Amino acid sequence: MQITSFKQYEEDYKKSVENPEQFWGEVAQNFQWRKPWFKVLSWNFNEPDIKWFEGAKLNITENCLDRHLAANGDKPAIIWEPNNPEEESVIYTYKMLHERVCRFANVLKRNGAKKGDRICIYMPMVPELAIAVLACARIGAVHSVIFGGFSAKSIADRINDSQCKVVITADGAYRGNKQIPLKDVIDDALIGCPTVEKCIVLTHVRTPVSMLKGRDVWWEDEVKHVNDICEAEEMDAEDILFILYTSGSTGKPKGVVHTCGGYMVYAGYTFANVFNYQPGEVYFCTADIGWITGHSYIVYGPLSQGATSVLFEGIPTYPSPSRFWDIVEKYKVNTLYTAPTAIRSLMSYGDDPLEGKDLSSIRVLGSVGEPINEEAWHWFDEKIGHGKAPIVDTWWQTETGGIMISPIATVTPTKPSFATLPLPGIQPILVDENGNEIEGNGVMGNLCIKFPWPGMLRTTYGDHERCKQTYFSTYENLYFTGDGCLRDEDGYYRITGRVDDVLNVSGHRIGTAEVENAINMHAGVVESAVVGYPHDVKGQGIYAFVIYPDMHGEAELSKKDILQTVTRVIGAIAKPDKILFVSGLPKTRSGKIMRRILRKIAEGDTGNLGDTSTLLDPGVVEEIIEAAKKL
Ligand code: PRX
Repeated sequence: MQITSFKQYEEDYKKSVENPEQFWGEVAQNFQWRKPWFKVLSWNFNEPDIKWFEGAKLNITENCLDRHLAANGDKPAIIWEPNNPEEESVIYTYKMLHERVCRFANVLKRNGAKKGDRICIYMPMVPELAIAVLACARIGAVHSVIFGGFSAKSIADRINDSQCKVVITADGAYRGNKQIPLKDVIDDALIGCPTVEKCIVLTHVRTPVSMLKGRDVWWEDEVKHVNDICEAEEMDAEDILFILYTSGSTGKPKGVVHTCGGYMVYAGYTFANVFNYQPGEVYFCTADIGWITGHSYIVYGPLSQGATSVLFEGIPTYPSPSRFWDIVEKYKVNTLYTAPTAIRSLMSYGDDPLEGKDLSSIRVLGSVGEPINEEAWHWFDEKIGHGKAPIVDTWWQTETGGIMISPIATVTPTKPSFATLPLPGIQPILVDENGNEIEGNGVMGNLCIKFPWPGMLRTTYGDHERCKQTYFSTYENLYFTGDGCLRDEDGYYRITGRVDDVLNVSGHRIGTAEVENAINMHAGVVESAVVGYPHDVKGQGIYAFVIYPDMHGEAELSKKDILQTVTRVIGAIAKPDKILFVSGLPKTRSGKIMRRILRKIAEGDTGNLGDTSTLLDPGVVEEIIEAAKKL
């Protein structure tokens, strides 16, 4: 299944387009199935209705764990590096991980969970998070992991949307020198979640927590009551494996649904190829399992390939900006997969943190989550890869399940700030506003995909119509990514950023409407408009224009009040970087906010605001420009 030459890439690509069913059928043979499929693919982008490996039966955990036991049981599956470097790291071999997953799967059963039930996971980056995820998959329960930075209200909305029965959490989490009271946040969330029957709490930071009789149980107590034998549940290829909530251009996040068979094949195939993983190598992805990158490229992809995956609890700058390099040196990391925002942040500390660090083990570098600027690309290449490690700039999305457009390490060429070429099986096309295909090279357009791939989303949980409207209705018979894209003279793809109202802040997807809704919930705020602006480290920053006529106290304090409200409603990750109080917003006569103008003001580019004659009150623009200069 691993591509070893450019020629093979070209041949595989051709085959994947000419005969996709044969191509993916052969790839899927590299996985373990309880029963084979009778049809590789049936599809229809109008409904949408997509089925891969129809009729096949499997359990993804047998592919991630059981099948490695005989030959590689003692090989490290997960190396856990704690937040505090003074604390001991933990290595879980495949055998140990299998044992823990089976045991915890039995804990889930003991607490009433069964196949098809939804389970919310809100945990720090500890091995038990991966164990919880895999234990859900073991019994066929659907996991919905929520990133530790979301607020109680966000958690409650997500739990209620998918009617979770069980919650798995920890007392708290460490993040650098901060402690986050996870169980407290969950307690606030669960006040409004009638479907939750049980909450399993892992002891991690051992901060005092409230444990509600009948609902809350300790992880450590529960595992003592069960054994470690747990036969994997037989799943249909199209049964749901997990839900992951992500932001779109409307106010409400949607639950992206991935299914067992196709997702497994796609995560495993892309992992093995993009990173050119070799047996025995140590692979380190710095993402959080709360995002899709962690699902596909810390847990499922690497484990399905019997790889050794480093799971890091902390942050790149704690206790010092040398932390990543210390980890690379400590475990002789061969592949480092991280985000441009982390690269830019570490780059800003200069060369000192790299002094004396042995990075010679690095063979492959990866980037994900947002466009990587050339400066960061070159720094990563020269300082971290010493010009010898190919950088795979991987473009993909929560909805795509796995990497779509990317170099294949050591096989296909790289090009600074380009995701380069589609992987086999992926058929990207660029279209204009009207959905007409833009052919040839040296062109720009909206990026769509015209043929299904196994890892694609199947629906949005509980609301299939929304899936259809968001991804399959903008252009007929195409999956619309929401991204703008350039195809250069060589036919290489470069993602230029979102073309909808979705921001990408430090690689985190945040909808402008979501932030506006949160700001508008602040007492006294009349209206707000949120746009993105270029930010040196975060990629994009959040700029909020807010009408707040009778503010409570002085302006600076009122800004903090608003930040507090956003933190409560969404979480700290959505806090605006800049708030500008204004008396009005530029609107058309029909009442639509002219975001184009606000974006220009936020970017400090007020020389050419375009046509403002259609505005209801053109005067307001001058006022906003003046106020923005003083911010
Ligand atoms: O705009 C693209 C950007 O991140 C979006 C997807 O965000 P999310 O679903 O949170 O998944 C992030 C991790 C896969 C895309 O629509 N994006 C992701 N990777 C890249 C990127 N933009 C440019 N280059 C990339 N390599």
